[in-house]
Amino acid sequence: MFRDKCCGEVGERDIGRILTLSGWVFRRRDHGGLIFVDLRDRTGIIQVVFSPEVSPDSHELAHTLRTEYVITVRGEVRRRPEGTENPDIPTGNLELYVSELRILSRAAPLPFMLDEPKEVSEYLRLKFRYLDLRRPEMYRNLLMRHRVTKLVRDFMDSKGFLEIETPMLTKSTPEGARDYLVPSRVNPGHFYALPQSPQLFKQILMVAGVDRYFQIVKCFRDEDLRADRQPEFTQIDVEMSFVDMEDVINLVEEMLSFVFREALSVDLSRPFPRFTYAEAMERFGTDKPDLRLDLELKEMGDLAEKGSFRVFLDAISDGGRVKGLCGKGMAGLSRREIDLLTEEAQSYGAKGLAWIKVKGGFDSPIAKFFPTQVLEQMAERLGAEDGDLMLFVADSEEVVHNTLGRLRVSIGRRQGLMRDGYSFCWILDFPLLEWDPDEGRFVAMHHPFTSPKEEDIPLLLEADPQDRQTLASLKARAYDIVLNGYEIGGGSIRIHRPDIQKKLFEVLNLSHDEVEEKFGFLIEALKYGAPPHGGIALGLDRLLMLMVGADSIRDVIAFPKTQKAQCLLSGAPSPVQERQLKELHIKLDL
Ligand code: AMO
Ligand code: AMP
Repeated sequence: MFRDKCCGEVGERDIGRILTLSGWVFRRRDHGGLIFVDLRDRTGIIQVVFSPEVSPDSHELAHTLRTEYVITVRGEVRRRPEGTENPDIPTGNLELYVSELRILSRAAPLPFMLDEPKEVSEYLRLKFRYLDLRRPEMYRNLLMRHRVTKLVRDFMDSKGFLEIETPMLTKSTPEGARDYLVPSRVNPGHFYALPQSPQLFKQILMVAGVDRYFQIVKCFRDEDLRADRQPEFTQIDVEMSFVDMEDVINLVEEMLSFVFREALSVDLSRPFPRFTYAEAMERFGTDKPDLRLDLELKEMGDLAEKGSFRVFLDAISDGGRVKGLCGKGMAGLSRREIDLLTEEAQSYGAKGLAWIKVKGGFDSPIAKFFPTQVLEQMAERLGAEDGDLMLFVADSEEVVHNTLGRLRVSIGRRQGLMRDGYSFCWILDFPLLEWDPDEGRFVAMHHPFTSPKEEDIPLLLEADPQDRQTLASLKARAYDIVLNGYEIGGGSIRIHRPDIQKKLFEVLNLSHDEVEEKFGFLIEALKYGAPPHGGIALGLDRLLMLMVGADSIRDVIAFPKTQKAQCLLSGAPSPVQERQLKELHIKLDL
């Protein structure tokens, strides 16, 4: 017998009882006569005591215990003597006096200590992931992931959704990243693609009359990795028939409210705020605004034109923009600190960063280019008061938004302006199409099955495929959901009318053969009575990262990959044997 209960479950009621417990030796302290061991399992820690008076044999054997040995102990639970309690752990008033010790497994010296996570390189943490996962905060993350997926399943079930698995060995899906390919042995020269999402299959399930589909599903995308991107990640994928955008938005808000209440005891205030794409870009410089911060970007072009600062005037005459941001309480920055801020702005793509300190008057090398009255108007528009720093970027709209959007968040952090908590919002009215200068054609901003807004459908159907201005102005029935500055989900109402789909492919410059080869099976299916439908996919890893307050999605994934898409634990990817390549009819050309 290994245990009567788990380490963290021992309580006051057990005082005086003889219990058997099992776990890992977390810490061992030798105090002359007594040996103390913190015994740990996933539920917590209990102090066990080896005393030569209680059991000379166990005490003797306890001298050989080392960190992370696996042991079973049996003994009496006692209240700790006054003054020796540990208020930091739930079992801190208790200890177990050992009468019997069994060593179940010995441990080699560890590559890192489990109680010093911050000191450890991520390389070691990932290579010895089983040790890293023994740390309580990592276990808590796994537990939260389990809870959240369970809650999502319960919620979706209660709303009549069916969880249906879709193929992993499949065809390329249109999410815009590179595919992971899998060669087919029995079909020489043919490859499966791992799904970038179940997009095509979930739409086909709607044609099949399933009506309400969801799936907690792995997706695979070969793209440049970042802290919030993994080559394989998990979506909460949803598709519904006979719905409009409001139905999808309501469902997601209700689901998230349920999950946050049950898992975190947090009540989300609904409805979540909504912004059009254009408004989010104007006010926050990004389509994933962090709303824990009130700071906003302001238009400065009209005021810039009243001055004679060449950098501003040139940007405007080149068709660009001048916008500003208020650095609350930053007028005290030294030249050196302003230089660093300028370098930061340059790293986001700006050519420079213009600044004016509001300090008694206006203190800046560029103040002389503006009448005092204009400087005052600038301060008023930015909400800059004495002690603040006005910041300006002049460039193309894209560079202005990107630079000030990122500076906004970094200033918010540095000045402590960020609120705690969870700030959700929806971004709506995305452009349907985006011009790709490399390919010299339009690409779908979401994916090519996304419906245009109702009022834009006639415009699309009548548009000349060369008419870039009209095409760029079309809006999509697409929506993204954003939490604390991260895009945690996106979806759309789909096209179910073949004439609209055909015209869109034409505008995207996809030939009949290309369409046929890429997603002919979906287009075929849509011919046989497709209900109006739409859906969304939430990035489960990003959602969990934010729920547990981690900095990277790697902390909420049991076995994540590195920036180079390697699994340090297993050593994947790795070369394969010549024989395997031959069977697959593959010759390497390295
Ligand atoms: P989309 O491509 O926007 O939509 O993906 C949905 C959500 O998945 C998350 N996500 C990722 N998370 C971690 N690592 C990645 N590499 C990664 N890529 C995406 C994001 C994103 O918002 N089929 C459509 C959904 C639909 O239209 O219904 C889709 O996949 O949080
Ligand atoms: P310069 O005229 O290059 O000496 O620049 C004067 C100030 O304008 C410096 O503070 C620069 O960082 C800033 N600056 C230069 N280019 C830009 C720009 N495109 N937008 C905003 N400020 C700029």
